[in-house]
Amino acid sequence: MNKITLMLRFLKGNRLTYLGALLAVMGNVVLATAVPMVIRVTLDSILGDLPLELPDFLIRQIGRIGGVDFIRQNLWVLLLVLVGLTLVQGLMQFTRAKLASITGESSAKRMRDRVYLHVLRQPYDYHVKSQTGDIIQRCTSDIETTQHFVANRSVEAISIIFQVLVVLGIMLSLNVPFTVISVVLIPLILILTVRFFRSMMTLFLDTDESEGVMSSTLQENLSGVRVVKAFAAQQFEMNKFDEASSTYRDNILKITRLMADYWSKSDFLCMLQVVIVVLSGTFLTATGRISLGVMVAFVTYSGMLIWPIRGLGQMMGFMGQAFVALTRVQEILDHVQEDYSSGANGLPIQGAIAFKDVRFGYNSGKWVLDKVSFDVPAGSTTAILGATGSGKSSLVHLLLRLYDYQEGSVTIDGTELSSISRDWIRSHVGIVLQEPFLFSRTIRENIRVGRPGATDPEIEAAARIACVDEAIGEFEEGYETVVGERGVTLSGGQRQRVAIARTVLRDVPILIFDDSLSAVDTETDASIRAALKERRTGTTTLIISHRITTLAEADQILVLDQGRIVQRGTHDELIRQEGHYKQIWSIQSNMEDIA
Ligand SMILES: Nc1ncnc2c1ncn2[C@@H]1O[C@H](COP(=O)(O)OP(=O)(O)O)[C@@H](O)[C@H]1O
Ligand SMILES: [Mg+2]
Repeated sequence: MNKITLMLRFLKGNRLTYLGALLAVMGNVVLATAVPMVIRVTLDSILGDLPLELPDFLIRQIGRIGGVDFIRQNLWVLLLVLVGLTLVQGLMQFTRAKLASITGESSAKRMRDRVYLHVLRQPYDYHVKSQTGDIIQRCTSDIETTQHFVANRSVEAISIIFQVLVVLGIMLSLNVPFTVISVVLIPLILILTVRFFRSMMTLFLDTDESEGVMSSTLQENLSGVRVVKAFAAQQFEMNKFDEASSTYRDNILKITRLMADYWSKSDFLCMLQVVIVVLSGTFLTATGRISLGVMVAFVTYSGMLIWPIRGLGQMMGFMGQAFVALTRVQEILDHVQEDYSSGANGLPIQGAIAFKDVRFGYNSGKWVLDKVSFDVPAGSTTAILGATGSGKSSLVHLLLRLYDYQEGSVTIDGTELSSISRDWIRSHVGIVLQEPFLFSRTIRENIRVGRPGATDPEIEAAARIACVDEAIGEFEEGYETVVGERGVTLSGGQRQRVAIARTVLRDVPILIFDDSLSAVDTETDASIRAALKERRTGTTTLIISHRITTLAEADQILVLDQGRIVQRGTHDELIRQEGHYKQIWSIQSNMEDIA
């Protein structure tokens, strides 16, 4: 998409304040160009005796207050005019600053919210594969960079262009040859500026990327700090960070060098241009071709031309930076959101699940689930056993529509899964993920995530079912204990049980436990399952587990191997067959005998 369109989109909703800022800055330019005019008239017609060269309405105005003679006798009038001009200029500057910051901050907020929502609505796979640090950078510093440019610098850039046009017009109307002499070096300055802008763009892109790598490394290391410490890998990780950090530094240094180069060269050219104006002006005045007033005005005007044009180079640098940042933000917005609108809503769900010849793979060519068929009657319990990587998690993720299967059919109560809306299905299937994540909030808040409207007694009841109530009671602050990054650390089993409580709180017709009881002992496992059974008969339950005592109680057991169901039946049926299930059973019952 076109960059300008993107910027305009960024401004959407604040276009009036932006326009206000533009008008203020243009007013400011007009007033600034009036000052040299006043000085010229003072030198030529008030102090000197040249005829007034001003627009008619001004001459009439001067006539009304008593003409040039009056001003000659009351020079304070000129002072008043100059002070007045400066005052109004100040007012304009203030208005511009205020409106520009309103524009910038509101646009940035809107953009941040929009990008964040968009990120939240990305498919599961996006989050599995993208780097958090990179996304964070795009949501914060990239938006900030854009905001600075769009709100402040773009206004400045437009005002520079406006100023150049106005000043050029005035200069041309005063003296054409002198104007030509006064801008003779400007094409050179422009060429230098454009070249600077090009190199800057590439450098900014590199810098932004290396900053992304740096923050990703940092973010990952901080989240995984326990692994880093446990493996005494500080030095190794430090080196990795150091590498990213060095690249970033080198890029910044390159930018600085480039800037220094540009500034010194363009400074020299600008100074040279000023010298040319002064020298040729002196010559023209001395030979009587222009008046002293015009000469003085030209020196000021050429300054109002040269320095801003040089500043335009800096603007272009910022523009390059903003374009890069905006492109990175736009890349996020270009990712297609998960589709929440399609599919049926409002379907009552009993919980009968049927897989028929389902094939699913993350990448084409390799099926992670291959022709999987099974039925789960509503209200029954199905257990799934299988080696790591056999496809158990993938299978249950399909039920939540986190991924879509490629072949075959999955139905819930006879309705094809793909025709039920994602929101609807997710609000009726509760899952305890294999790697439960707890937010850095209190335990109560963590459980409440399951159902934001839940009351405290409901939360505590859920915790009792998950057999974590007692453990919570032992914390000094009970349910108000903060867990995660800025609080106490829960053991793996406690974490799993809090996650179970969170899911149980939802009160949904289908419950999935993805290896969720692996970190609790066998007895607790049994009591959680008993409590669950008591609480709600009629909940369809899928349990992924390796524990025979858990599997044995299921109405049906599926054994998965490399994406295929290789065995199915009840515990009694399966221990009478040769196979994976019997092996595991004999190993685990031997262990229990020993224990
Ligand atoms: N998001 C993913 N993208 C690509 N491959 C994946 C993804 N998640 C899992 N896999 C692969 O799919 C296979 C099945 O994984 P999974 O369903 O997690 O197995 P299980 O839960 O039985 O251990 C594995 O080979 C795993 O590497
Ligand atoms: Mg798994």
